[in-house]
Amino acid sequence: MAESAQTPAGGTDACMSTALRKEYLAALGLESWVVRTPASAAPQVASAPAVAAVPVASAAPRPVALKGGAADAEPAGAEREAAYDWTQLRERVAACTRCGLSATRTQTVFGVGNLTAEWMVVGEAPGAEEDLLGEPFVGRAGQLLNSMLRAIGLKREQVYIANMLKCRPPHNRDPLASETAECSPYLERQIALVKPKLMLVVGRIAAQRLLQTDAPLGRLRQQVHAFGASRVPLVVTYHPAYLLRDPLNKAKAWEDLKFAREVSARG
Ligand code: URA
Repeated sequence: MAESAQTPAGGTDACMSTALRKEYLAALGLESWVVRTPASAAPQVASAPAVAAVPVASAAPRPVALKGGAADAEPAGAEREAAYDWTQLRERVAACTRCGLSATRTQTVFGVGNLTAEWMVVGEAPGAEEDLLGEPFVGRAGQLLNSMLRAIGLKREQVYIANMLKCRPPHNRDPLASETAECSPYLERQIALVKPKLMLVVGRIAAQRLLQTDAPLGRLRQQVHAFGASRVPLVVTYHPAYLLRDPLNKAKAWEDLKFAREVSARG
């Protein structure tokens, strides 16, 4: 297991003890995951590769297409949100009726965390517990997300966490394209306000919608994408809910987290 951890800022993580790291990785289900090099059988070291060694997605993804609601006299999409501060944005989201999910939600789930975070984690949509509590990633998937972040030296409070959709789709069905389009300006404004150095997008649906692609998650991970006009570096990994169902992919998620940390360390 990687013992020479680095902080997201790229420095050696001297303050995280081996025992603590083991504890975090155990929470990820990776306590017995050891990669051995053929020559030395030494544990794999999570060192940042040269910048050129990190593949960069060649085609810059376009931001999600935005549109206004039907019969909406206001400016379309992101133009409506572009001037909002945090308070105004939160109020607009809480009162939103742009799509049918407003009829079935308990409440909107805005986002949580450090408003000037270097890392922004983006998920798909609230689930049942998030819908009840009004905070993203508070259920079992949220616990695993917290462990994933801790494994790379980040506390939940250090990052900003939001979803592509602010309302729960009934029975956790996949978001409709129209719901994504109506809700995206809110996320885009959150990104513009936080100004993250890195976006970590969890799960196929959020990744495909944000990057406007049908590519499978396996092809989207381990690349640096660029999101939106400000080309925020964006890294994709598995959704923690998926990892709960398919723990074998936790090792790949760990690779993605280390990759994201390398990208973020580049500044
Ligand atoms: N899954 C998500 O994508 N977001 C949440 O907030 C909870 C579960």
